[in-house]
Amino acid sequence: MAALTAAISSTPAAPGPAARRRRFFAVRCSSSAADERQVLFSRIAPVYDHLNDVLSLGQHRTWKRICVSWSRAKRGDRVLDLCCGSGDLAFLLSEKVGLDGQQLQTAANRQEQRWKPCYKNIKWIEGDALGLPFADCYFDAVTVGYGLRNVVDKPKAMREIFRVLKPGSRASVLDFNKSSSLFTTSLQSWMIDNVVVPLASGYGLTEEYKYLKSSISQYLTGKELEELAKEAGFSAAKHYELGGGLMGDLVATR
Ligand SMILES: C[S@@+](CC[C@H](N)C(=O)[O-])C[C@H]1O[C@@H](n2cnc3c(N)ncnc32)[C@H](O)[C@@H]1O
Repeated sequence: MAALTAAISSTPAAPGPAARRRRFFAVRCSSSAADERQVLFSRIAPVYDHLNDVLSLGQHRTWKRICVSWSRAKRGDRVLDLCCGSGDLAFLLSEKVGLDGQQLQTAANRQEQRWKPCYKNIKWIEGDALGLPFADCYFDAVTVGYGLRNVVDKPKAMREIFRVLKPGSRASVLDFNKSSSLFTTSLQSWMIDNVVVPLASGYGLTEEYKYLKSSISQYLTGKELEELAKEAGFSAAKHYELGGGLMGDLVATR
């Protein structure tokens, strides 16, 4: 992901006064938590955004806008984008939250290229989704885009999201849909084999994108995601299919 090459600021284990004033956080995996999957993301980083546009025919932008909208993040909120990658959801969330006089912490390459005044409110943090460096009940909204599927311990990640959310606040978790419809599963599988992998091969990333298929089959269905959220403590959880059932977004309310 492009953001992995950007300047990443560190964060204290318990946020200090400056961090408390900040309203927006975007977390990607720390090097200490690096494993095979992190190596994979580093390899696809240079072409990740371009391939997303090509493979989804630009649709991923709409799905990400929906994910952010369903998080109910609003002006003045303190929000978290977990597994931020190159920051698509982070930039969208930043626009929702607004400027509100927050500090500029990091000037990432992409942040500079796409600069808007509200992007001053973003703080990029290197951390682990399985041990978020934030206090309990800290955020007004959390988004995760194509991240939970890649986290090894999903129940723990969900419990962490629950922990850092304020009561009544929402998490919006966008990802590929592990459909229970045979038609959708076959279409998804066909597209990965015949469109995604061949296209990625042109960039020398055959194996990296083959991983997509196995990661979806090892992911959770909408119903299972709803159960996961409820087990983590969320009072309500609903999974919505997007993109003709190829994608899905879990909305969970603490
Ligand atoms: C496919 S990218 C998603 C990027 C971006 N959110 C998007 O929607 O385009 C998955 C991201 O999840 C991150 N990730 C995977 N496991 C993680 C963990 N345990 N903690 C934090 N980030 C993690 C990876 O580093 C990678 O940036």
